[in-house]
Amino acid sequence: MTGMAVLLALTALVIMARYLNRPSELLEEEIQVEEGAADLDPNAVVNGVHVRTGLVDGPGLTEVVNNCTTCHSAKLVTQNRMGEEQWNATIRWMQETQGLWDLGQNHTVIVNYLITQYPPIKKGRRAPLSNIEWYDLK
Ligand code: HEC
Repeated sequence: MTGMAVLLALTALVIMARYLNRPSELLEEEIQVEEGAADLDPNAVVNGVHVRTGLVDGPGLTEVVNNCTTCHSAKLVTQNRMGEEQWNATIRWMQETQGLWDLGQNHTVIVNYLITQYPPIKKGRRAPLSNIEWYDLK
């Protein structure tokens, strides 16, 4: 009877030891996945989209990635659509109040990218009605 109990206890120990061992195995797997991700090209463009930032590919993409995604998410850029005046004003505002540096020659490159890839959306409210022949309800 004691032999049986010892056997049971040993079996339980072996099972517990295996169970306790599992987390470290999982951890190793996760680390391998992350090392693999680091091998990916940080500037990969797939289907016309810069994967890391979500910015649309086009002339000036590199300048925008380098100058416009360090302080905030690129989403702040991609969710906005503006004309040249407004993009310039937004950049000026960041330079005057948020510590954005002088963009030098890249300024024009960046604004051209923005007004080409993220122009204002024309649709929206319909045009006001005009030349309506109103009639009186009787
Ligand atoms: C030095 C830091 C910094 C850099 C670099 C920077 N920004 Fe910003 N930007 C900010 C801050 C801070 C805000 C305000 C964030 C908030 O409201 O949460 C902001 C807000 C914005 C907004 C939203 C403005 C609004 O009216 O809501 C847009 C669009 C934007 N940035 C575009 C850009 C573009 C394009 C570039 C590259 C030319 C750029 N940012 C680079 C700091 C920066």
